[in-house]
Amino acid sequence: MLAAGALEPRGPVAETIADLWWFMFALGLAVFVVFAALLGASLIRRRHEEDPSTGERAPDAPSRWLIWGGVVLPLVVVTAVFGATVVAMRDTPTTAPSEALVVEVVGHQWWWEVRYPEEGVTTANVVHVPVGRPVAFRLSSADVIHSFWVPSLGGKMDALPDGTNTLVLQADEAGEHRGACAEFCGLQHARMDLLVVAEPAEGFAAWVAGQRELAAEATGALAERGRELFGDARCASCHVIRGLTEVGVEGPDLTHLASRPTIGAGAAGNTAMELAEWIADPHTVKEGVKMPATDLDEEDRAALLAYLEGLE
Ligand code: CUA
Repeated sequence: MLAAGALEPRGPVAETIADLWWFMFALGLAVFVVFAALLGASLIRRRHEEDPSTGERAPDAPSRWLIWGGVVLPLVVVTAVFGATVVAMRDTPTTAPSEALVVEVVGHQWWWEVRYPEEGVTTANVVHVPVGRPVAFRLSSADVIHSFWVPSLGGKMDALPDGTNTLVLQADEAGEHRGACAEFCGLQHARMDLLVVAEPAEGFAAWVAGQRELAAEATGALAERGRELFGDARCASCHVIRGLTEVGVEGPDLTHLASRPTIGAGAAGNTAMELAEWIADPHTVKEGVKMPATDLDEEDRAALLAYLEGLE
């Protein structure tokens, strides 16, 4: 099940933040109810005290209300919120425990590069994490400031071009979590999605093992042709496919492209039709991306598609 909201906590950090939110909501609601009641009472009282001939009423000393309602009450409310915030901050880890899984996340305009340095895995826009184990996300950016946010796991932290921020999160149960970029970073900021897949340790290990493998061999003449085209065409100057070409620097690693649920960081589904459209001209799907349109004829495009579709 896909959890997408900050009020659907699926981990200890998210729970702490959700608890704080509910506390502030309850406090705000109590203040609203009390003031609405006082306002109502004063309107009723005012009507009773008015002089029917002139419509005026005698002014009374407002100092008691000013002191309690204007000084004491706000002081109590602000102190309570401050105290609860300090407690929530204390319960949010700021350094990674030694058993934490390290995941490096690099924000790009407009996608997420995801690397597991200890496992030797690189992927994009999808993060697999084991259930019940803390994950240290080391956040940085290749260009402008982005912000890493997976509401149902908690957090939200800037990914900066000149330094690394660490966010420690943990998923308590298996499931999928929608994440997004939370800092305006240009034209396609809104389409910079991230999917976090939390799975039991064995499932996670199996995923890592699969991702560590080199790209699948091309099967069939069409896919063979596509594989050659990938190397010959401009694709390989930006994209890495491990086992085929290692020089790409700009775009997402495509070694296991077919294993990902979306393309373009959630801009489109990873289906043959949408991938074909993307290869022909990604700007029709996600205007402004760095990838240029390709000038392949229909046959070559079909070949490239056949090869990419086989990259499980
Ligand atoms: Cu990246 Cu907004």
